[in-house]
Amino acid sequence: MKVIVTKNYDEMSQVAANIIIDVVKNNPSAVLGLATGSSPIGTYKNMIKDCKENGTSYKNVSTVNLDEYVSLNAEHDQSYAYFMRTNLFDHIDIDQNNTNLPCGVAKDLQAECDRYNGVLAKLVPDIQVLGLGSNGHIGFNEPDTPFDSVTHIVDLTENTIKDNSRLFASIDEVPRQALSMGIKNIMQAKSIIMVVSGKNKAEAVKGMVNGKITPALPASVLQLHPNVTIVCDEDAASLL
Ligand code: F6R
Repeated sequence: MKVIVTKNYDEMSQVAANIIIDVVKNNPSAVLGLATGSSPIGTYKNMIKDCKENGTSYKNVSTVNLDEYVSLNAEHDQSYAYFMRTNLFDHIDIDQNNTNLPCGVAKDLQAECDRYNGVLAKLVPDIQVLGLGSNGHIGFNEPDTPFDSVTHIVDLTENTIKDNSRLFASIDEVPRQALSMGIKNIMQAKSIIMVVSGKNKAEAVKGMVNGKITPALPASVLQLHPNVTIVCDEDAASLL
C-alpha cells in the first residue's frame, strides 16, 4: 500500500487526477471504477480540465460505479447517477452508454445486484477510485461486511445516514438502503486509488494503513491488494 500525503484537498485532487489520467493515456479503452461523495469531486474537476485543455479522450473508456441509493431514480439530484453526470460525464467526451451504475429503482433489487455482478465480470477496472467512510466503509460496505461479498443490498448504518444527511434537505430524506459493489468486486480491480481528506477520517486511515485486517474496518482489506495508492491530505494522515 503506497501512501501519498498532500498538503490539502486541492493537491490531493491533482495528484489523484494525474494518476487516473495516466491510466487513460496508456490505455484509451481503460475501464474506470468510480466513486461519488465529496472526496473525488476535485479529482473529477481536474480530469475535466485536462480533457478540455489537453485533449485526453474518454471516447472509448467504460466506467462502473461503486453504488447507488435504493429508491432514487437517475434524475433525482441526490442519486449517484445524477452526481456522476453533473460532476464528470456531462463534461468529458465519454459515451454515456459505456457508463454503468446499479439501478436503485429496479423492481427486483436482488435481480439488479445479480445483473450488476454480470457487468462487473466483464468490466474489470484498470483503476478503481474509492473514498473512505469515517467508519472505514468502502463503497457502502459497512463494518462487518464479509470480505467475499459481491454486489448486494445494504442497510445503511445510522453513522452513514448522518454523514450523508448534509446533502439532503433533512435526515429523513436520506435513503435507508443502497446497492453496493461488494468487497470482493472492489478487490478485483487491477489497481485502486483512494482519495481521503479531513480530520474526521484520520482514525479510519490509521486503522486502514496500520491496523489489523478485519471486517470491522472494511478498508483494512486493502492491505491485501497488490496495487493500492492512498492519496490523503495532512488532516486525514494526522494519526499515521
Ligand atoms: C461513494 C461511496 C462511499 C464514499 C464514502 C466517503 O460512492 O462509495 O464509500 O466514498 O462514504 O464519502 P465522502 O467522500 O463524501 O466523505
